[in-house]
Amino acid sequence: MSGTPSSSRAPQTHTGEGPVLVVDYGAQYAQLIARRVRETQIYSEVVPHDTPVDEIVRRDPAAVVLSGGPASVYAEDAPRVDGRLFDTGIPVFGICYGFQAMTSALGGTVEHTGVSEYGRTDLSITGQGGALHEDLPGHHPVWMSHGDSVSKAPEGFTVTAGSRDTPVAAFEAPERGLAGVQYHPEVAHSPHGQEVLRRFLHDIAGIRPRWTTSSIVEDTVAAIREQVGDRRAICALSGGVDSAVAAALVQRAIGDQLTCVFVDHGLLRAGERAQVERDFVAATGVRLVVVDAVDRFLGELAGVADPEEKRKIVGREFIRTFEQAARDSQAEAGEAGEQVDFLVQGTLYPDVVESGGGSGASTIKSHHNVGGLPEDLQFGLVEPLRALFKDEVRRVGLELGLPETIVHRQPFPGPGLAIRIIGEVTAQRLETLRAADSIAREELTAAGLDRDIWQCPVVLLADVQSVGVQGDGRTYGHPVVLRPVSSEDAMTADWTRLPYEVLERVSTRITNEVPEINRVTVDVTSKPPGTIEWE
Ligand code: XMP
Repeated sequence: MSGTPSSSRAPQTHTGEGPVLVVDYGAQYAQLIARRVRETQIYSEVVPHDTPVDEIVRRDPAAVVLSGGPASVYAEDAPRVDGRLFDTGIPVFGICYGFQAMTSALGGTVEHTGVSEYGRTDLSITGQGGALHEDLPGHHPVWMSHGDSVSKAPEGFTVTAGSRDTPVAAFEAPERGLAGVQYHPEVAHSPHGQEVLRRFLHDIAGIRPRWTTSSIVEDTVAAIREQVGDRRAICALSGGVDSAVAAALVQRAIGDQLTCVFVDHGLLRAGERAQVERDFVAATGVRLVVVDAVDRFLGELAGVADPEEKRKIVGREFIRTFEQAARDSQAEAGEAGEQVDFLVQGTLYPDVVESGGGSGASTIKSHHNVGGLPEDLQFGLVEPLRALFKDEVRRVGLELGLPETIVHRQPFPGPGLAIRIIGEVTAQRLETLRAADSIAREELTAAGLDRDIWQCPVVLLADVQSVGVQGDGRTYGHPVVLRPVSSEDAMTADWTRLPYEVLERVSTRITNEVPEINRVTVDVTSKPPGTIEWE
């Protein structure tokens, strides 16, 4: 929040009907904090740090959380907290940089001590620990990441914890609804952090927890009914989690006014078409049109080895195919005197935050498969997942009765297996990769590793051949690469240390059961420098 501390009072109209607002000071933690707030069953949104205090007050937030950030409160251009925020009656929780900014704004002292704390640090509770730390272990680990330190809490605040190098690591004035911690309660390295955040929200701020999966479903279904009314909508199903859950919500809201289109481009993994055609339809009762466009896609991809070119072709052909299906659907609706007015999209909350969008108008994401529809196909957008994080989407999917196989499906690129074949894509190569991939998936699932692995692309090096031996004969086959990775968000990833026995089973089965493959290799590169997909 911009502005200098000031003594003029902000209007006190706080009733707390709005969301918890997490003010983003530019660290990577704001979205994580918002997720942690939601885990306490309270709705939260991220807002930029230059949001004026009047705008914050207008949103009538249940509380404000000031996030961590990379700046020093001493830096000239450091984002500040407008001191008027603390006169509004809105409960405020400061974290890391937010804790220091809060200290400065309220007249405490932040010092550049020259001692930084980074990483796991021992927190010692002072006195009874106050509302936030009472009854927690007297010493426990927390995650710190700061250069400056608070040396004196603002007037009227009780210091409730410290560390070796930071005497003031937590303070609170619960009767005013204000508190803060120097450490990061939102990360897993602070094992009591979630409880501390919960105590702030439930006990100090007094917010009633009501953001539950069933309330999400109920509210979203009502909002979709309100938006669409008795008109019709269309949705492209990709086989992925987001489009499946978005479609299931819209189906719950408007039933047969929704038509789903599934384009089979022939680049999916084994069994994925059946999952949509059979399992998804059985679970939701959705009206589904399947377009078999395998020949069209393979025809366009023939002779193309360049990955960017493949991506372009798949994107372009997908739009053309979907457009045709949408036109057909409009024509059919037209005969019944109706019109298809809405396109359903599975946009998630992180996309909304990252594109700087709030609750305002949205655009179709260009990297989505359904992008850039032509002028004559004018749709309003229905985006039922716009407020949700991925884990919430999965829970909603389960609540709506979608099968585990869809809800917990690993991320899969839009261009599908086309970019997991290094070299030209052909029907034969797709068949080979599909067979190897399905063995790998089967064995990883059987070993109970699905939840430990973010995803495990299997890559066919179609232009590489090497000598092998099978029985008495020499073979000249292709290698596949297993690329198991562990990750939180796909931005960074580490290679998963799979047990040797599992690797052995996968390798033996692939080389025995897939005649074109005579070597199985494992990619042991983290991201960065490697990406997850090979392409
Ligand atoms: P990379 O290879 O860049 O992948 O490390 C990061 C994550 O994105 C997925 N991915 C895609 N997802 N459409 C998608 O919906 C795409 O075109 C696409 N390309 C990569 C990849 O599987 C990984 O999870």
